[in-house]
Amino acid sequence: MKRLAVVLLAACSGIGCAKISPAPAPTKPLSAAADAFQGALQKELQTAMAHGGPVEAVAVCADRAPKLRADTERDFGIHLGRASTRRRNPSPAAPPWVTDWLAANPNGGAGIDDGTRLLRPLLTGDVCLKCHGDPTTFSPELRNKIDSLYPNDRATGFKAGELRGVLWASRDPEGGAGK
Ligand code: HEC
Repeated sequence: MKRLAVVLLAACSGIGCAKISPAPAPTKPLSAAADAFQGALQKELQTAMAHGGPVEAVAVCADRAPKLRADTERDFGIHLGRASTRRRNPSPAAPPWVTDWLAANPNGGAGIDDGTRLLRPLLTGDVCLKCHGDPTTFSPELRNKIDSLYPNDRATGFKAGELRGVLWASRDPEGGAGK
């Protein structure tokens, strides 16, 4: 196998490569991946909120958000994540360009979409306050649930209109993974 790989590599280093390599698959814009992730997560969150309120929705979010993220990365062949200066779930680590943006734009801003990197600011809406707002407004059940799932939670105390965090996506395997 190793020999074959070497031979193929050698063949590919010449100009004949263009003829034998398949046409590159058309790449979808990063905004399509961001829309897919945000849309799917929002739908599941809304359904869970309507069914069992914030206590159920926290559990759904804890289970589904990481899976939807992994699905989107696989389906689109990109890196994607959410980040914040005060996080509930610290994984995945944000790449440096995302932490730099967060440090420079504590109140939000225009974001980024340059073809290889996308960053969308996520502002705190009224519904977000139910799980990211003043914890003294949470029911004891909700507080217990959040504490048990996220003992190091830092994502409460946000106010309506504040920057809650960002959604980022990247085509760059190094800059995107940020590991
Ligand atoms: C039902 C409770 C609930 C609601 C409502 C909610 N979130 Fe969250 N949020 C969570 C949970 C749970 C996580 C951690 C998910 C995980 O483990 O990946 C989270 C994580 C996040 C993160 C990732 C960064 C971090 O702190 O881990 C962002 C950004 C975020 N939420 C923004 C929002 C915004 C914006 C809204 C309103 C549109 C919102 N959330 C509404 C429960 C909620």
